[in-house]
Amino acid sequence: MTFEIRPMKLADVVTVTLVDAIAGILVPWGPSAYAGELQKSSSWCWVAETIADAPLEYIPPFSAPMETIRYAVGDRALIGSLTLWDLAGEGEIANISVHPRYWRQGVGRALMLTALAQARQHNLKKVMLEVRASNEPAKSLYASLGFVEDGRRPGYYSNGEDAILMSKVES
Ligand SMILES: CC(C)(COP(=O)(O)OP(=O)(O)OC[C@H]1O[C@@H](n2cnc3c(N)ncnc32)[C@H](O)[C@@H]1OP(=O)(O)O)[C@@H](O)C(=O)NCCC(=O)NCCS
Repeated sequence: MTFEIRPMKLADVVTVTLVDAIAGILVPWGPSAYAGELQKSSSWCWVAETIADAPLEYIPPFSAPMETIRYAVGDRALIGSLTLWDLAGEGEIANISVHPRYWRQGVGRALMLTALAQARQHNLKKVMLEVRASNEPAKSLYASLGFVEDGRRPGYYSNGEDAILMSKVES
């Protein structure tokens, strides 16, 4: 599977929202939240895109009216995204998700490496994130990139789970 990482466009926001929901993000942002991010100079959003190797259907897993997205074989298919914030000189990974069909093929790592390169370019010395305590795939992705656990927020998520705080300091 070959894919590319490119900046998110307004035309992507509905699919990005669907991929977040399908990937199991607990409180997925809506399309308008992503559209808002695209307007901010302190926010960078990327998507991962590949050529669909089999038909792909993104059916909204929630009740809000939203179109089903269909990709035929050979279409360019949006399969993941990441949003990075510049919070007064420090980076925060606000969101990352990859469509489950494409897990464990290097897409999440490529999105993270893009964000870390942007953080370096903008002189963000520290990059932070929050992750559910039980989210082993995400925790091990972050650890493999040099993030270390530096805090915990008990009961932070709507399902009662703790948030683990992780950060990476650029040397
Ligand atoms: C977390 C997530 C983005 C990872 O995306 P991905 O494209 O599957 O990740 P990659 O293939 O780039 O994996 C990179 C590394 O992460 C770790 N990793 C990823 N999935 C893993 C799993 N299921 N179990 C253990 N480690 C895992 C491994 O270290 C892996 O490297 P390796 O494959 O060389 O061993 C993806 O699982 C996802 O979208 N999860 C749902 C949404 C989510 O939890 N977002 C994070 C919120 S904080």
